[in-house]
Amino acid sequence: MNENDLRQRYEALKREINYHNYRYHVLDSPVISDAEFDRLMAELKRIEAEHPDWVTPDSPSQRVGGAPLDRFEKVRHPAPILSLANAFDAAGVRAWFERIRKLDARVERARFVVEPKIDGLTVVLHYRDGVFVQGATRGDGEVGEDITANLRTVKSIPLRIPLSENVSAPGTAGTDDLPLFAARKGRESVPTVPAYLVVRGEAFITIRDFERLNRQLEERGEKTYLNPRNTAAGSLRQLDPSIAASRPLTILVYQIVAWEDARLSPPTTQWETLAYLKALGFPVTGVARRFDDLEAAIAYAASWTERRNELPFEADGMVIKIDDLALVADLGVVGKDPRGAIAFKFPAREVTTRLLDIRVNVGRTGVLTPYAVLEPVEIGGVTVERATLHNFDFIAEKDIRIGDRVRVKRAGDVIPYVIGPVVEARSGREQPYRPPKTCPSCGQPVEHFEGEVAWYCVNAACPAQLIRNVEHFVSRGAMDIVGLGIKIVEQLVEAGLVRDVADLYTLRKEDLLPLEGFAEKKAENLLAAIEASKQQSLARLITALGIRGVGEVVAADLARRYPDLDALARATQEDLLQIEGIGPNIAAAIVDWFAQPRNRQVLAKLKAAGVWPRGEARPEGEALPLGGLTFVVTGTLSGFTRQEVKEYIQAHGGRVASSVSKKTDYVVVGENPGSKLQKARALGVKIIGEEELRKMAEGAS
Ligand code: IVH
Repeated sequence: MNENDLRQRYEALKREINYHNYRYHVLDSPVISDAEFDRLMAELKRIEAEHPDWVTPDSPSQRVGGAPLDRFEKVRHPAPILSLANAFDAAGVRAWFERIRKLDARVERARFVVEPKIDGLTVVLHYRDGVFVQGATRGDGEVGEDITANLRTVKSIPLRIPLSENVSAPGTAGTDDLPLFAARKGRESVPTVPAYLVVRGEAFITIRDFERLNRQLEERGEKTYLNPRNTAAGSLRQLDPSIAASRPLTILVYQIVAWEDARLSPPTTQWETLAYLKALGFPVTGVARRFDDLEAAIAYAASWTERRNELPFEADGMVIKIDDLALVADLGVVGKDPRGAIAFKFPAREVTTRLLDIRVNVGRTGVLTPYAVLEPVEIGGVTVERATLHNFDFIAEKDIRIGDRVRVKRAGDVIPYVIGPVVEARSGREQPYRPPKTCPSCGQPVEHFEGEVAWYCVNAACPAQLIRNVEHFVSRGAMDIVGLGIKIVEQLVEAGLVRDVADLYTLRKEDLLPLEGFAEKKAENLLAAIEASKQQSLARLITALGIRGVGEVVAADLARRYPDLDALARATQEDLLQIEGIGPNIAAAIVDWFAQPRNRQVLAKLKAAGVWPRGEARPEGEALPLGGLTFVVTGTLSGFTRQEVKEYIQAHGGRVASSVSKKTDYVVVGENPGSKLQKARALGVKIIGEEELRKMAEGAS
């Protein structure tokens, strides 16, 4: 390739990678595999290594996070970055409306846009000729800090806009996915960018990504984060951009702060602003709606109070905005709050209550985690009596003492957590807390590993670990032994009847009868349920073993591949890596699990007891009717429970995923479907009912 061709290839590669990045991180609908993406990236980096002078700020290679900074420069915002006034109920919103109606008669006929109020960190993004050149924090609203290097690492922030002009991905038409909204020039319908554009948005971490991040940290014995907001804000305020690069940050934009262009004028309404920003390739909320009158807007905003857990991020309310931006500008500001918008706040999910005690939980892997016993308190309609305290370092850092009044928060579906003590409320009788030196369950000394925050009980025979293991083994998604709740598990372990999960299968009626609460009937029922569980599938048994990283989905994949546990036990890491969805960590965890003599012993006992399902793996070629297809289920089905439909699909060779993506082949819809249905429609995924599912599964076999 000559220099000229190489240069062209380089430019094309940048556009193509930016486009695929957008498909993945903004649309959540990739059209190429991760491996293909990596290949494009590798090619780009090869060219850049040869021609460092070609590298531009909009190159996807610039997202990795450059060298650490000494300090953040100050950035003066092109216009004030305003805040919002709050209303706490519908009456508060109506009062706002009455106030501004008196100021301007146009308010009477105004339309409203309602958007979620994301609990994140405001960011201000500058684009010159479509290239992302600077990003800042809000600061005091006049001057913020230059966090460009950190923001470049946020994959959903476009480095160049519009995104997909002239880019056609393999098998796609390129611009098809962008709703065409244009500041039109003649007949041209491609979005056009002003010479200088500044947009405002909110950076955040979704609840799901936050929980995944914490799970990974916990597995590695590292410190977990407190909440999504602080994690997002904290990572963007670090001088070392590689930190932001390693966190699952994302953004949603909602405002044009500045616009300079001799030819083009900006959108004139909030609704058009959102459509325009979306067309350029920015991530924009899908929850926004426009209304012709205030009551409809209030009703929509209020409806999200009940549904706030369905939002993928933490939100502290909805924002009701006057649509007409000229009117908003004319209405002006009071202090830092524009008159043209109001926040309709959700009820607070943060309260204070008394910390009665700190207790310690021993997990399945022996990790000790402290938790708070609280004076019962209601948060968002739920009575909370327990909350997480993260780890022992957290308690020490926050100087949390028993007897303290503590701030407790419940956000999204996240487990309630203690934020910290209300120091001013101390009486002096509060007791400092000292972490246990021995396991609260077995009394053995606890251990700490270099570089980890967690403390472990390393006693393999620790009853608390065993109880957690058995609890997991018998749980609904695993062996599903009905009637074997945590209380009975504890009784069995404490009585010495169960020393590992296989002991469940040798229990006799005489063993159970002496236990408290056990009469003839109950003992018989329990034994029958245990006996019945021998018929559970191999996938369930694999799930039940509790191998790190092996949940129901991976277990089902393994069960499709290996005829029984003997075959799985023989699998090497290389073999396991061949299976889609299994990476090096899970592969290593599986091999490691089967290598442990203790586990081998349990397997031998299970086999001897007849708990040895097999037969799911079919010889190559003998395909099952749903083989190779991925399904997502939403809503209530009439002929199946959730668990049943899952097993039904798996039994016929299909895969069941929990969220809809471009990789989903079918979404099975029942009554009262959730947001998954909307997502399926948006992505063009095929939607079927229960009957069609049955026909597909049965018809071809
Ligand atoms: S509009 C003039 N819209 O909430 C525009 N703000 O308490 C004023 N926020 O600092 C802001 N989501 O960072 C607006 N959809 C949204 C928002 C939003 C979150 C934040 C914003 C602001 C704070 C006000």
